[in-house]
Amino acid sequence: MGKDVILKKLEFIHFRNYKKAKIQLGKDINIFIGNNGQGKTNILEAIYILAVTKSHRFGEQVYLIQKDEELAKVKGSLQKDHTYQELEVDIGKNFKKTYVNQTEIRKISDYITNLNVILFTPDDLDIIKGSPQGRRNLLNIEISQINKHYIQCLNEYNKILKTRNEYLKTMYINHLSDTRYLDILTDKLIKRAIYIYKYRIEFLHKINDSISDIYEKISNYKGLKVVYENSLDFFEFDEEFIEKSLKEKIQRHFERELQQGNTLYGPHRDDFSFYLEEDDVKIFSSQGGQRLAIIAFKLAEIPIFKEKTGESPILLLDDIFSEIDAKKRNRLMNYIKNDVQTIITATDLKNMNKKMLENSKIFEVFSGNIRERMSK
Ligand SMILES: Nc1ncnc2c1ncn2[C@@H]1O[C@H](COP(=O)(O)OP(=O)(O)OP(=O)(O)O)[C@@H](O)[C@H]1O
Ligand SMILES: [Mg+2]
Repeated sequence: MGKDVILKKLEFIHFRNYKKAKIQLGKDINIFIGNNGQGKTNILEAIYILAVTKSHRFGEQVYLIQKDEELAKVKGSLQKDHTYQELEVDIGKNFKKTYVNQTEIRKISDYITNLNVILFTPDDLDIIKGSPQGRRNLLNIEISQINKHYIQCLNEYNKILKTRNEYLKTMYINHLSDTRYLDILTDKLIKRAIYIYKYRIEFLHKINDSISDIYEKISNYKGLKVVYENSLDFFEFDEEFIEKSLKEKIQRHFERELQQGNTLYGPHRDDFSFYLEEDDVKIFSSQGGQRLAIIAFKLAEIPIFKEKTGESPILLLDDIFSEIDAKKRNRLMNYIKNDVQTIITATDLKNMNKKMLENSKIFEVFSGNIRERMSK
């Protein structure tokens, strides 16, 4: 068992439609109810920013700041067993600052490992339906939260990739034939690629340890799994094999890379898919089935986060109960146990299971104001 982490207090200043808000969260389930457009998702977004410094939503940073203001602040007090930690993210129009216990932390990898969140939003359906980029982003964000080395390797990989692509273009335009500098970049790239593969494969294996059981509990269907798809066609991590085959692939397709000015192989091109037994969920599952598959994926992350960081993550569930039928909703609510702090948004409390409501702290959200509901 790891440390229990509880977000005790949350405060916003000039964030989205909140001028000033300060709330005390409960250690188990917290439910925010309100009509459309009142600020429910904004609350989860703020917690997400407090954890990973970026919004999960599309759009520029400046829109996080309340209209006609200059600076937004999001603050949170974390209780980790018996110690406390204060986190703060200040968002300006073109800067961002992060603080832990009032001390500025400049290195993102040092900041984002303090609070771990697992977020589910209605847009997550795009994870299954959308482009590989979205799935890679999900892997990158989740693994970065629990592994400092991963985010470092990934940042370095992306920098080298950019340089390598630029250099391929330079070689092509100037008809350069000496590949010595390119080879150095390729070797550097492969070195980082190996770690990225290693951590992604390890992560997805761990997801597979529990996703099938979770999915069966909430949907009654057996056999959900995720499969990492890569151009080298490996399933297990094997450093030597990966190093050799990536090198070979890149060498074999040198002409094509040169013409396109682009690195065509490596983890920046990979993907993963969901399968129910042998069927691709993208093709064979209903919308509701796909939604539950994503929820199962996110719930399967909880034990991984605990094991890797020794701390429990906070679960953020945006509008999770819409579009799930009553039976599955009940199964899901039974699954969301009290072992991690959970923050849920919904338009109302209709159809919510009594037992869950008894264990919940309920807040009403109205036009950028949050009020705790005293009677349930
Ligand atoms: N920078 C900003 N300044 C002021 N208000 C903003 C800003 N950005 C967003 N808003 C407002 O925030 C509100 C949207 O909040 P939010 O997305 O949290 O709603 P919600 O309660 O989740 O609604 P739904 O139930 O439809 O999902 C809108 O009214 C929008 O105008
Ligand atoms: Mg919303």
